[in-house]
Amino acid sequence: MVLDVKKITSAHIFVTGGAGYIGSTLVPLLLENGHRVTVYDIFYYGSESLLSCSLNPNLHLIKGDIRDEAHLVEAMKDADYIIHLAGIVGYPACSKDPELAISTNVNGTENIVRNLKPNQRIIFSSTGSCYGAIPNGYCTEETPINPLSLYGSTKADGEKLVKEVNGVILRLATIFGISQRLRLDLLINDLMFKALTEKTFDVYEAHFKRTFLHIKDVARAFLFAIENYELMKGQVYNVGGDSLNFTKLEICNFIREAVQDCVITPSSQGFDADKRDYKVSYEKIRKLGFEPKISVRDGIRELKMFLPSISNEFILKTKNV
Ligand SMILES: NC(=O)c1ccc[n+]([C@@H]2O[C@H](COP(=O)([O-])OP(=O)(O)OC[C@H]3O[C@@H](n4cnc5c(N)ncnc54)[C@H](O)[C@@H]3O)[C@@H](O)[C@H]2O)c1
Repeated sequence: MVLDVKKITSAHIFVTGGAGYIGSTLVPLLLENGHRVTVYDIFYYGSESLLSCSLNPNLHLIKGDIRDEAHLVEAMKDADYIIHLAGIVGYPACSKDPELAISTNVNGTENIVRNLKPNQRIIFSSTGSCYGAIPNGYCTEETPINPLSLYGSTKADGEKLVKEVNGVILRLATIFGISQRLRLDLLINDLMFKALTEKTFDVYEAHFKRTFLHIKDVARAFLFAIENYELMKGQVYNVGGDSLNFTKLEICNFIREAVQDCVITPSSQGFDADKRDYKVSYEKIRKLGFEPKISVRDGIRELKMFLPSISNEFILKTKNV
């Protein structure tokens, strides 16, 4: 079923964490689509990621912390939609500073939800890390979640809060590709960087099944959720594509095709704290009309083209807090 949805233009969209990896690809797309955008971000990685939109009169930047309730409430009061991206992202960053992770990912989300006005709509950026180990290796949105890492459990708590206010929850696959704020801790980006710089490296849990989505398709998914909000509200959606489920070994094979002199060896050293080893069903969002457009091979080509010439300064900013 592909729905004929009336295009929503000129909404005021408040994007928390809008200068980050997802935000810096999403914000320009929202602006291109005629929306007014307020980015509310603590700017851990600076605001340079949004420089390409600096002259756009519909962009507004606020340096702020979602843990600072009074400031947040004042900043978000006129928004039509809130896209909530701000967070401490990934299990290594959360384990490094658990207090910061909980106060940001859980209490920060509470601050937003508690102050949402009846006419305001919220879209939450969640993750497949909520699932934890899945006994039969296949998950739909109905599969009970069982997060195993602090990151996964803070995101699951965030989901619960957003569900209480009837928001849309997007459970994203592992993202890949280049954005104005780059992350190199994401599996495909990380392996491509190693293939291009170290040439020889190990991969743990090589047979594990993972699921992927290009950063530009992620941005499209948020726009899709705005345009289909009435249909999607109060529900969780896995966001990705059935053709983007691969084992880590299959990803290594794509990388070897692109970087032929690299040597990748499966290893028994290392593990994923989130135990992600499953195929994900994307039928629910596909039935509404959303399908990713960018393949893993296309993303690898993009990474191969840009990573060798990206400056060290830019690479330094890829390190998570
Ligand atoms: N990248 C992925 O593969 C992926 C997958 C699934 C879900 N997500 C989720 O998407 C969201 C964004 O991820 P990302 O990859 O863009 O991460 P990112 O780290 O690049 O961006 C997060 C942004 O949030 C800001 N921020 C952090 N704490 C803040 C605070 N207290 N107040 C205001 N701003 C704050 C940071 O400055 C940064 O700009 C996160 O919630 C993450 O859990 C990401």
